[in-house]
Amino acid sequence: MIRHAHITYTGLLIGAFLLLLLGTLPGCSKTAHQSHPAAIASAHPLATKAGMEILAAGGNAFDAAVAVSAVLAVVEPHGSGLGGGGFWLLHRASDGFNVMVDGREQAPLAAHRDMYLDADGKVVPGLSVDGALAAGIPGEPAALVHIADRYGRLPLAQSLAPAIHFARKGFPVDAHYRRMADFRLDALSADPVAAEIFLEDGAVPEEGHVIVQTDLANTLQAIARRGRKGFYEGDVARLLVEGVTAAGGIWTQEDLGKYQVVERKPVSGEYMGYTITSAAPPSSGGVALVTMLNILADYPLPEMSVADRTHVMIEAMRRAYRDRSEFLGDPDFVNVPVKRLTGKIYARAIATTIKPHRATRSASFGVPGTLAGGDSTTHFSVLDADGNRVAATLSINYPFGAAVVPPGTGVLLNDEMDDFSAKPGVPNVYGLVGAEANAIEPGKRPLSSMSPTFVENKDGVAILGTPGGSRIITMVLLGILDLVDGNGPESWVSLPRFHHQYLPDVVQHEEDAFDAATLQLLRAKGHTFKPHQSTWGNMQAIYLDKNTGKVSAASDPRVSGVAIVAE
Ligand code: DON
Repeated sequence: MIRHAHITYTGLLIGAFLLLLLGTLPGCSKTAHQSHPAAIASAHPLATKAGMEILAAGGNAFDAAVAVSAVLAVVEPHGSGLGGGGFWLLHRASDGFNVMVDGREQAPLAAHRDMYLDADGKVVPGLSVDGALAAGIPGEPAALVHIADRYGRLPLAQSLAPAIHFARKGFPVDAHYRRMADFRLDALSADPVAAEIFLEDGAVPEEGHVIVQTDLANTLQAIARRGRKGFYEGDVARLLVEGVTAAGGIWTQEDLGKYQVVERKPVSGEYMGYTITSAAPPSSGGVALVTMLNILADYPLPEMSVADRTHVMIEAMRRAYRDRSEFLGDPDFVNVPVKRLTGKIYARAIATTIKPHRATRSASFGVPGTLAGGDSTTHFSVLDADGNRVAATLSINYPFGAAVVPPGTGVLLNDEMDDFSAKPGVPNVYGLVGAEANAIEPGKRPLSSMSPTFVENKDGVAILGTPGGSRIITMVLLGILDLVDGNGPESWVSLPRFHHQYLPDVVQHEEDAFDAATLQLLRAKGHTFKPHQSTWGNMQAIYLDKNTGKVSAASDPRVSGVAIVAE
């Protein structure tokens, strides 16, 4: 049926005249259905609020992203920070340009492939997780300067002002902070500077205790004044190198001076009429997402029983994560076959090994691994009233990173070096195994799972992502499938989660992910399950309905983030 067939020619003329008139009025440069409110969803109320204030002050989504990133670096120190890195996926509305700003950490120049092995060639437990040797060269400061300079409208100092304020005046500890600090209490206690800042008399601080970070305020101030030189050169750089060296690390001034932000073309794919735009290598996120969606596109998911649908989803996950362990790494060092892995033909070929009634054994593909936990990192989503958007996932890796703060800097070091494969086949803290493509090399970026993502069709656009280590990619997959099923952000962020990552060969899941009957049917196909006592993820999502201009946003109910849609 042609819906508007009754509209007369005169009606069209009047309509066109009204649109022209509207276009000449101040603030009404767009047709009614195109105008929409701005929105931000982030893991911390202070960060969301700061971003909204920057938008209200005339900033665009990119300025807001700088403000939100910097505030999160202060008020969610266990998740991300100046001592870490991340991926900022940007969409510029004026010309439709998409880019991934890669601010991922780089291995120090003195790093080498066996640096976490003992004399017998065994991985030394903890060496790539706790302490200064675990830290890569931070990318977040350079990325924030880059985004503000190239894409923002406001001066960097203005976008950094809220973060400087919260670092100087302090922020109150919440329940999530307490959980993270408790998880990392031993590591934080081992570094006097970290313990002084992040603990209260050597213990996990009470809720409401105010954390003041004067050194961090000064470091942010130096960046606000001098741009990237404020961090990678001068006093801050000197203090960083001295502190890292004293704590047994291998950073040099040359490492800091050489750090480079890289603009990369996002990975894209198509699924059921939606375009997926997501993180490029050195993240495995976009490639794995597109591989899984390509496999699933050949199944009539809505018509399948829950158990059968879950079965093929698990099998798609298993295969994409297997490829991750073999092929994915830093594209500046290894040749990642992105085109092949995200192609429909490839997906069809690997899908032929999926049996409808039987789980594939991961061991039939390769080496064994074990399971480990952890829950930090951060994601936020921004949409401004002009349609610019940002999906950013930022990290210092494990909660509170390496748990080391070089004296005088306030900068908590990342332990992102653990995302490299310390030894082929030996799992990292997320139980992920890797091989040659993700071996340590000087200057190389460790492979990531961070998956800031846009999903768009003619009716709407979604901005989403989450922390969660190896489980990030499958959480985003579940969110995308739920969007395609017709649900909104509230549903994507609260969906019960399950995950398979090839090795270990188990389906990890939140306790309420499956009912008893589905579990029984899946067990009968040969799947093994490992329920998690705790929940996982902290998804932050926005959806714009292009037809109505309605914007909805949601923050994962598992944690304490806040999503705001402007009035
Ligand atoms: O880049 C990565 O994939 C990891 N460093 C992310 C770590 C993370 O999400 C921690 N939360 N569980």
